[in-house]
Amino acid sequence: MTVGFTHNLVGPRIDDRLGRFLESWRAPVSDPDVVAAYQLLTGFILNGGKRIRPQLCYWGWRGAGGDDCDEIISAAAALELCHAGLLIHDDIMDGSDLRRGQATVHRSLSRLHEGPGAESFGQAGGILLGTLSLAWSDALLSSCGVEPGRLRAAHHLFDAMRSEVISGQYLDMLAQLRSGSTVREALTVIRYKTAKYTVERPLQIGGALAGASPALLDSYSRFGLPLGEAFQLRDDVLGTFGSSAETGKSALDDLREGKHTVLFAHAVQRATPVQQAYLRAWHGHPELTEEHAAELRQIIRVTGALAEVEDMIDDRVRMATDALALAPLAPEARSALTVLAVQLAHRDR
Ligand code: IPE
Ligand code: IPE
Ligand code: MG
Ligand code: MG
Repeated sequence: MTVGFTHNLVGPRIDDRLGRFLESWRAPVSDPDVVAAYQLLTGFILNGGKRIRPQLCYWGWRGAGGDDCDEIISAAAALELCHAGLLIHDDIMDGSDLRRGQATVHRSLSRLHEGPGAESFGQAGGILLGTLSLAWSDALLSSCGVEPGRLRAAHHLFDAMRSEVISGQYLDMLAQLRSGSTVREALTVIRYKTAKYTVERPLQIGGALAGASPALLDSYSRFGLPLGEAFQLRDDVLGTFGSSAETGKSALDDLREGKHTVLFAHAVQRATPVQQAYLRAWHGHPELTEEHAAELRQIIRVTGALAEVEDMIDDRVRMATDALALAPLAPEARSALTVLAVQLAHRDR
C-alpha cells in the first residue's frame, strides 16, 4: 500500500469502536457453526477496509464545527457496517471470489460446509450475514449518543443513502442484462451505486449530526458527488488495469463479468468494427483468460478510453476541490478533505 487512508488517526479509532461493538453482539445461539459464521463476519468487517466512509463522516462533522468525541466515532463506524453488508451482497451478485485480499464471505461459507449444496449454502449465508451487518449499522447509528433532533436529521439522510445505493446496485444489475450502456447511463449507475453512499452522504450525515446548515450540506453534495464519481472511475480503472495484490479484488472480474463501466462504454464508442467485434466476443465471456484480458486492455488503451477516463477523474477532482474552496468549513476539515480528495481519486488499492 502506498497511500494511507488514516488521516489524523481516525481509522484506528473506527477499528477500535467496531471491535467493541462486535464484541457486544456475539451469536445469540451456541451452535458452533453459527458462532463460526459470526466470527467470519467479524473478521471480514475488521480486516482490510480503507475506512473511507467513516473518515468522511468524521470530517463532515468536524467541518460543521463538531468537536472530536466518541459519539461521532460511533456514528462513523456505523457507516462501515453498512458498507460491509453491501460488499458481502455485492460479491454474491457479482460472483466474486476475492475481496480485501481474501476469499469473499459467501465463498468462505461454502468452504466451511463442503459437499452438495455448498455453493447455494454460501450464498444464502452471505445474504444473511450481509443483512446482519446492515441491521447492525442501524443499531450503532441509532445508539451513537448524539442529541435526538440531530440524530433524526442524520438518520433521514442515512435512509436516503441506503435506498440510493440499492437503486444503483439494481441499475448495475440491469445494465448486465441489457445490451450495453452508453457513457451517460454508466455515469448514472456510478452516481447511485457509489458516489452517494461513499462520499456525499457520509459527509452530510456527519454534518447533520453536528447541526450543519443547509448551505453546508449543499456544499458537501457539490464536493461529494464529483469526488464520489472520481472514486468509482478510479475503481473501474483499477478493476481492469490494477494489481490484484493491491486492490485485493480479482483483476479479471470486471472483464469476465462484462461490467458496463464508463471505461468500457468509452471503449465501445471509440472502437473500430474489428475492435468492437472483439469487445463483444470477450467482454463478459465466462471463459475469458488472461490473454483475452490483455487484448481487451490493449483495445481500451489504444481507443483512448483509458486517457478519457483519466481526464474525467481529473475534471471531477477539480470540481470537488473548487466546491471545497467555497464551502463554509472549519479549517482543519478543509485541509483533511483536500488530502482525502487526492487519496480517493489517485489510489492503487
Ligand atoms: C469498494 O469500496 C466498493 C466501491 C464502491 C468501489 P472501497 O474501495 O472503499 O472498499 P474497502 O472498504 O476499502 O474494501
Ligand atoms: C461495489 O463493490 C459495492 C457497492 C457499490 C455496494 P465492488 O468493489 O465489487 O465494485 P463493483 O461491484 O464493480 O461496482
Ligand atoms: Mg463487485
Ligand atoms: Mg457490483
